[in-house]
Amino acid sequence: MENKRNGADASVTILAIESSCDETAAAVVRDGREVLSNVISSQIDLHTLYGGVVPEIASRKHIEKINQVMEQALKEAGKKLPDMDAIAVTYGPGLVGALLVGVSAAKAVSFASGIPLIGVHHIEGHISANYIENKDLEPPFVCLVVSGGHSHLVVVKDYGEYEILGRTRDDAAGEAFDKVARAIGLGYPGGPKIDSVSREGNPDAIAFPRAKVGDSDYDFSFSGLKSAVLNYLNSCEMKGEPICQADVAASFQKAVVDVLTEHSMHAIEESGIKKFAIAGGVASNSSLRAALTQACAERGIAFYHPSPILCTDNAAMIGTAAYYEYVKGVRHGYDLNAVPNLKLGDKV
Ligand code: KG4
Ligand code: ZN
Repeated sequence: MENKRNGADASVTILAIESSCDETAAAVVRDGREVLSNVISSQIDLHTLYGGVVPEIASRKHIEKINQVMEQALKEAGKKLPDMDAIAVTYGPGLVGALLVGVSAAKAVSFASGIPLIGVHHIEGHISANYIENKDLEPPFVCLVVSGGHSHLVVVKDYGEYEILGRTRDDAAGEAFDKVARAIGLGYPGGPKIDSVSREGNPDAIAFPRAKVGDSDYDFSFSGLKSAVLNYLNSCEMKGEPICQADVAASFQKAVVDVLTEHSMHAIEESGIKKFAIAGGVASNSSLRAALTQACAERGIAFYHPSPILCTDNAAMIGTAAYYEYVKGVRHGYDLNAVPNLKLGDKV
């Protein structure tokens, strides 16, 4: 197939695919930071029926949607497949069956068209979402990554180069939001619901613990906090005392926000880096954004945060991350496979 690499256009245009969890997404991104289209087909309504993501259902839905979503991304961008310089896809971490749908689709399109394939790390995608709206942002910067499956505090040393300062020892921040939301009867997805209910509650009503992780200044632990909330709910029930949903939500949220803010500021102070970014689904939490905005302002730190639509899973962020791999010469073969537990910094 004739494609644009035979022509004179020097820009790099990438079709990116994301299917690691419950969003089937495709985007077209030019030169890393210009999003020409960003199509997201969410399965949230489907999984809400079951109180969380059902992996088998997620895979089936991805299969139904993937071609349509890719076609729509090209159409909305006003492009055709031969205009692409690369096909990028999330290959891990995530749900294996879900990842496989995107990886297989990307390999098929790449093979049929002869356009190079680039596998992208999902968390690297979340971090790269910051480049889209902040055209001036360049490494090095400190980044707090808080999603449904991951909580990391990293130094982005260069494009695609990370030093991990801390990570969660147990539950990810988003997982804790989802579990607590379920326990207080808010349902799935918990994060946005706790965020909005908390506005009606008193964040100082209940003193939930701010977990310290013994030997690390930067690691997080959220399962103790989740247990403290469950214990509080049990003891209220035993005593026949009513529970104020909004106070529990607000007090839990404050405990999470305090720990994330404290660790982040500590990392900024120790590293001496004056730029700080947040990424991942929990990065759209209004209370977290407010606390970090204030803490950064007090310290003269530039604070970067993607719009909420770029915090949750999307393919534009995958196209951005792929661009910086592309310019380094990274290309993947057709043996690229889904790696469900891919670690940040590990690449195939
Ligand atoms: O990054 P993401 O879309 O998917 C993963 O890669 O995991 O993150 C989803 C997580 C869910 O746990 C969801 O409850 C949480 O992000 N989340 C929030 C908010 N919006 C989404 N948590 C707290 N406050 C929010 N506003
Ligand atoms: Zn994600």
